[in-house]
Amino acid sequence: MPQFSDRVERISISGIREVFEAAGEDAINLGLGQPDFPTPEHARQGAVDAIEAGKADAYTGNKGIPELREGIVDKHERDLGLDYDPEQVIATAGGSEALHIALEAHVGPGDEVIIPDPGFVAYDALTKLTGAEPVPVPVRDDLTIDPAAIEAAITEDTAAFVVNSPGNPTGAVSPAADVKEFARIAREHDLLCLSDEVYGRIVFEGDHRSPAEFAPEQTVVVDACSKTYSMTGWRLGWVAAAPERVERMLRVHQYVQACASAPAQYAAAAALSGPQDVVEEMVDTFEQRRDLVVDGLREIGLDVPTPEGAFYVMPEVPEGFVDECIARGVVIVPGEAFGDAGEGYARISYATSTEELEEALAIMEAAYEAVR
Ligand SMILES: Cc1ncc(COP(=O)(O)O)c(C=O)c1O
Repeated sequence: MPQFSDRVERISISGIREVFEAAGEDAINLGLGQPDFPTPEHARQGAVDAIEAGKADAYTGNKGIPELREGIVDKHERDLGLDYDPEQVIATAGGSEALHIALEAHVGPGDEVIIPDPGFVAYDALTKLTGAEPVPVPVRDDLTIDPAAIEAAITEDTAAFVVNSPGNPTGAVSPAADVKEFARIAREHDLLCLSDEVYGRIVFEGDHRSPAEFAPEQTVVVDACSKTYSMTGWRLGWVAAAPERVERMLRVHQYVQACASAPAQYAAAAALSGPQDVVEEMVDTFEQRRDLVVDGLREIGLDVPTPEGAFYVMPEVPEGFVDECIARGVVIVPGEAFGDAGEGYARISYATSTEELEEALAIMEAAYEAVR
């Protein structure tokens, strides 16, 4: 019998996969966590040009190519008025690696990490892999992350808390007042605020705000091209933070990754510096679909807060609803896949065509009638 680490034995393959496997081949998949758009042409071309010029064959610097890191700095300045130096950025293999190196560099055995519940599945698993203890804190009834609940969960072992706006699986966007509170909590309690902003450009109402605006020293921003530019397959994300933190995260990144994939870095640099109207068009389309799905779910009789960003809705659902939908050929993800507080909810992704969404809503209505 092979020996495995205690840390790896504490995590398992995500429950979301099991849901996909349970569904038939012709099922309408509303379980997906990626936009259904092609990567912008100019981003693809950025990689093609670099490959053809022989620029993408070798390791890049550990932090990434300068033009990418400058593009990332410009993006944060443009979107949030943040003032990073390119040296404060590390390009990573997607937002996933960014979360990993941020946690590895900051927390370890004996530490506690406060995470949103329901929340993106990696927060719990990556915390456990560091040897630290995840402390899930339920979100509010409107599915936003509650700063007061985070503050109440702080103990002398707390090393970090994770915030995620717009949120997966909720689609909830934290209002500016809450974002300022996250920053205050990080400063006053001297904690790391790990701010996952991979959906930061996909906001329908109000503006995306970052705790880094108010607590730049305490915040590590995690972002990626994955969702913004429909580039999940390219695996390109980043961390941005204070120099001392970047130096520690670089130690981890250097040994687990060396550098992000060179072709992906050139594609990302082109995506970030090229025309942004593709993003606006995608966000407009998501907003129309959001309205369609929220109205449809309410007509069915389900309670659902209006999500203000990302491409997920999270209605409260009756017992048996998720299984009934899957049996009838619509894949949705049970809320408990994202934490105990997700029980009684389902995550529905609308990263699919209007026609499929309309068809799926009709099936969900029949499923609701069958289990109610
Ligand atoms: C909230 C959140 N953070 C991070 C990630 C990871 O993104 P990437 O594909 O860039 O690794 C995801 C992917 O679904 C996500 O939903």
